[in-house]
Amino acid sequence: MRKNSVIETIEKQKWLETAGNTLQPAVMKAFKAGDDTGQQIKDALHGTWLGHPLHPAITDVPIGAWTTAAVLDGLELMGKKKYKPGADAAVAIGLIGAAGAAFTGLTDWTGTTKAKRKVGLMHGILNAGATALYATSLVLRKRKSTRGTAISLSMLGYSIVSVGAYLGGHLVFRNQVGVDHTATSDTYPEDYVAVLPENELTENSMRCVKAGEVAILLVRQEGEIFALANTCSHLGGPLSDGDLLSEGRVRCPWHGSVFSLQNGEVVNGPATEPQPKLEVRTKDGQIEVRLPKE
Ligand code: FES
Repeated sequence: MRKNSVIETIEKQKWLETAGNTLQPAVMKAFKAGDDTGQQIKDALHGTWLGHPLHPAITDVPIGAWTTAAVLDGLELMGKKKYKPGADAAVAIGLIGAAGAAFTGLTDWTGTTKAKRKVGLMHGILNAGATALYATSLVLRKRKSTRGTAISLSMLGYSIVSVGAYLGGHLVFRNQVGVDHTATSDTYPEDYVAVLPENELTENSMRCVKAGEVAILLVRQEGEIFALANTCSHLGGPLSDGDLLSEGRVRCPWHGSVFSLQNGEVVNGPATEPQPKLEVRTKDGQIEVRLPKE
């Protein structure tokens, strides 16, 4: 896989690994200390309630607002002074959005490892630096004598946030952080296929089976058989290696997302997307599965 030199340089930075080793457990510990409330806050910041990662939606606010500020600052520099209040308001709105983006991004970052964690940390550092420049700019914009410096700081912040956004795009489009890892429903069987002899699935057990090329989780609990996609929607963990919980729930072994066996819905994040649920029947001693017809 070809990588560009910027990403390669970031991935080689030892200090990012050291910083990640300190910061990541500290953030996770803070959420854990809050017990159920901590879990609820964490889920809310991931976007479990939204059915979509919250961070990329929020990042549109600072990027959009600061792009507006850059345009209005440019017009002011061309002598159109009436755009000054609009530019200042856009910088302030961007700062509010940046706070939300920082909290949601930091929460999503706790699920990353290795090279992704380094790139994610650099993404955060750049955005934090840009935010500091914009905050300073907002203060300096109040005085006529420092307005030129304020606009220069905003422009510098905009350049830095653009590099940060590039790294964010790399994490999503190349590293698949935040994408639905089960989004291959066209490969699930549309007609019933036999996947396992019925007597090989015992009560309170989980099995990973193949339906064609797709890994399926089979569970028997209280006599009922359930089938979900085995690949976790969050970052692709194998659910069959996780924990079978009471009340028809399964927990992913990688970051602890909990899914309902009844419908695949997310009970606890960090996952935000549900697991595809398959229809199950038994026929001629075999367990058969298929995608629901609707
Ligand atoms: S891969 Fe992260 S919770 Fe499953």
